[in-house]
Amino acid sequence: MEEEKNIAQEKDVNFEGNYIEKFKEGKEEEFYPGGIISWKQKKHKVKVYSEFSTLEINIISDSILKFRYANDGYFEDDFSYAIDPEFEAPETPFTFKSGDKNLLISTSKLLCFVNKKDSKIKICDLSGKVLMEDEKGYHWKEERRFGGHVVISTIKSSKTSSYYGLGDKTGALNLNGTRRELWGTDCYGYGNETDPVYKNIPFFLGLNEGEGYGIFMDNSFRSYFDFGNEREEALSFWAQGGEMRYYFIYGPQLEDVTIQYTELTGKSPMPPKWALGYHQSKWSYYPESTVRELAKTFREKKIPCDVIHLDIDYMDGYRCFTWDSERFPEPHKMIADLKKDGFKTIVIIDPGIKIDPLYSLYQQGVYHNYFCTRMDGARFKGSVWPGPCHFPDFTNPEARKWWSGLFAGLAQDGVAGVWNDMNEPAVFEGGTFPRDVRHDYDGHPCSHRKGHNVYGMQMARSTYNGLEQFAGNKRSFTITRSAYSGIQRFSSVWTGDNMASWEHLHLANVQCQRLSSSGISFAGSDVGGFIGSPDGELYTRWIQLATFHPFFRTHSSGDHGDKEPWKFEDNYLNIVRRYIEFRYELMPYLYTTFWQYAESGIPMLKSLSLAYQHDKETLNREEEFLLGNLMLICPVSKPGMSSRLLYLPEGEWYNFWTNELLSGQQEISVETPLEQIPLFIKAGAVIPFQPTMQYMDEFVPEYLTLYVYKASKRTESFLYEDDGATKDFEKGINILRTFIQEPTGNRFQLKQIKDGLYEAGNKGYEIVLHGFGESIQNIVVDDKKVEWNSESNITKFTVAKNFDVLEITIT
Ligand code: GLC
Repeated sequence: MEEEKNIAQEKDVNFEGNYIEKFKEGKEEEFYPGGIISWKQKKHKVKVYSEFSTLEINIISDSILKFRYANDGYFEDDFSYAIDPEFEAPETPFTFKSGDKNLLISTSKLLCFVNKKDSKIKICDLSGKVLMEDEKGYHWKEERRFGGHVVISTIKSSKTSSYYGLGDKTGALNLNGTRRELWGTDCYGYGNETDPVYKNIPFFLGLNEGEGYGIFMDNSFRSYFDFGNEREEALSFWAQGGEMRYYFIYGPQLEDVTIQYTELTGKSPMPPKWALGYHQSKWSYYPESTVRELAKTFREKKIPCDVIHLDIDYMDGYRCFTWDSERFPEPHKMIADLKKDGFKTIVIIDPGIKIDPLYSLYQQGVYHNYFCTRMDGARFKGSVWPGPCHFPDFTNPEARKWWSGLFAGLAQDGVAGVWNDMNEPAVFEGGTFPRDVRHDYDGHPCSHRKGHNVYGMQMARSTYNGLEQFAGNKRSFTITRSAYSGIQRFSSVWTGDNMASWEHLHLANVQCQRLSSSGISFAGSDVGGFIGSPDGELYTRWIQLATFHPFFRTHSSGDHGDKEPWKFEDNYLNIVRRYIEFRYELMPYLYTTFWQYAESGIPMLKSLSLAYQHDKETLNREEEFLLGNLMLICPVSKPGMSSRLLYLPEGEWYNFWTNELLSGQQEISVETPLEQIPLFIKAGAVIPFQPTMQYMDEFVPEYLTLYVYKASKRTESFLYEDDGATKDFEKGINILRTFIQEPTGNRFQLKQIKDGLYEAGNKGYEIVLHGFGESIQNIVVDDKKVEWNSESNITKFTVAKNFDVLEITIT
């Protein structure tokens, strides 16, 4: 603060005078920075003093620039819940120059011009191609109702630009032409047009003539993004308070934008492997006998399942951290028994703490002032499931610590994970907290206007930290409905109270892709729809889609009939079972994909536009998506469809079901009998599978299977392995196996490179070759000839786990 004040005085910038005069005139609604007066560079920051505002440009890396604007000479404390505290900006060489018309910052990838006349910004790549250019640029308006400013940035846009990201939004995947709002909302039964929804992720990806970039506006006030909706040629993003603070992230690959965004906002922890298994939920399974029966039926009917969720009715009068002693007299025993059968138990925890003088949590919260208050100091009271409640201020570090500690009991009971809900926060009266409710905001006291959009994330954070506290060396699992940027450091997410309709199957597909491009890959929907009853066909098609979603759970409101797989007729049940089985078979590939996400921020689900941005055909495609790099999925999203059209991007693709090899960059029609979801494998892929199991790690398979799809050029595929349960992988007890296909003339090699110490229990691989037809003459593994079986153009044989080179001679 002191430093800022001095600078303002030193430069003789009369913020107040100029600004107040303008304001008094009342003529101008909008205020602009005006011309540049002076500038200063200090380390990796450049400060630009304009007539009416100050801009700070922080060179975060050669492809990330951070912009902050202060209107009155004082920057806010640069505090953020989104930025990963472990993020360290790399040393970045750059130059800063003043030219006739512009100030210019150049890094090894970007040129950033600030126009001396009007302070507008233009960012180009080194060839001079414009990536982002201010239109009206930064400006602000008086926020007359609450005082303060609405801070706005307007950049140039065009009809041909494409925009993605922004969290869990519904509607078209390409956001161009739309306006979206971020104000976390409990939107029971939302639809394609509903906005805002649950999560607040002020990060989008932009694509202009093949060049990708991203903008992350790190501001937790209610905010808006207008992608050429108001004016086709302009994109505006604004927040109803705080300071304009945004990161410009250069790709040019969109995928790299998402990756860099997760470098800033943090990576997901590795989940326990069981969390990637199948989850069954309902509002609510109770009493204990119902839960036991449910578990028994899964095993009897041989439908794999790892997790049972207990919704609010397990509690005593909806009091968090209690059990209803009649419904669940011995939770510890029940959970232990379920565990013996391979089931993990997850319980829901909401933020509302029942106002009940005899309830210890209520007493503690009141005594320690952990609850949110109104502006005049009275504790805020709002109704949720338990009736009138108080709500912990999760932005208060003391309250978070207290909350984390409360998980000791549930951990002792054996609960394996926690589900945070209603944390937008939702309140029956008025939807959410009144705007005057106070938050600590980690020592930056504010009203709910600023605290609202981060509330859910801070709850999930303190829940995750609580689980971690009692997990020892085990990995934790949480799931949350509301979120702010950076949530992936603490929790998985689901898309809230959707409906049993075909439109919602489609929405689930779009929302999960969008979340994934927004740094949140660990996402899923309530399979079959939370509200309403799907028919067998819809449920089956949804299960097929969700088989490829990182979080895979059937959940339902319970008001509209049951939704366990066996509640559907046998022809559906059999297909549903087969897909859940397939989910477990897919686990080595899925887990590897998760590791790539956790380790490097690579989105697990990729929209075609994210993976193939140079192909214009992909820009508005929203049904097809990739899981990892090697699998392309396109759900059946309408009833009675016996075939559908889909687009195969560049390269060659094998139809998983028929083994037919198809060239990319064409739209094709595929058969979609009820038992098949269109699934294509990229030529050159090596995909690891395991035998199906009733639950994760039910047994150690003797063999994993490697599906080898013949490559026409060198390719690399991966298998990551660790124990799937503990944090030993952080100490290097893991292994990355790289499978390299190398075709040269009539010799074809598959090499394995092993990097790591972990030894999984399987003794070998069954190799399944696709695409070699009758051409195989000889197969040699590590200099030893092997026998093989060929049937319908598929060749099978087994090899030892740690083989080095497999060589196939072909005709
Ligand atoms: C909310 C949740 C839903 C849950 C219900 C009862 O509507 O979104 O998943 O079942 O509350 O807890």
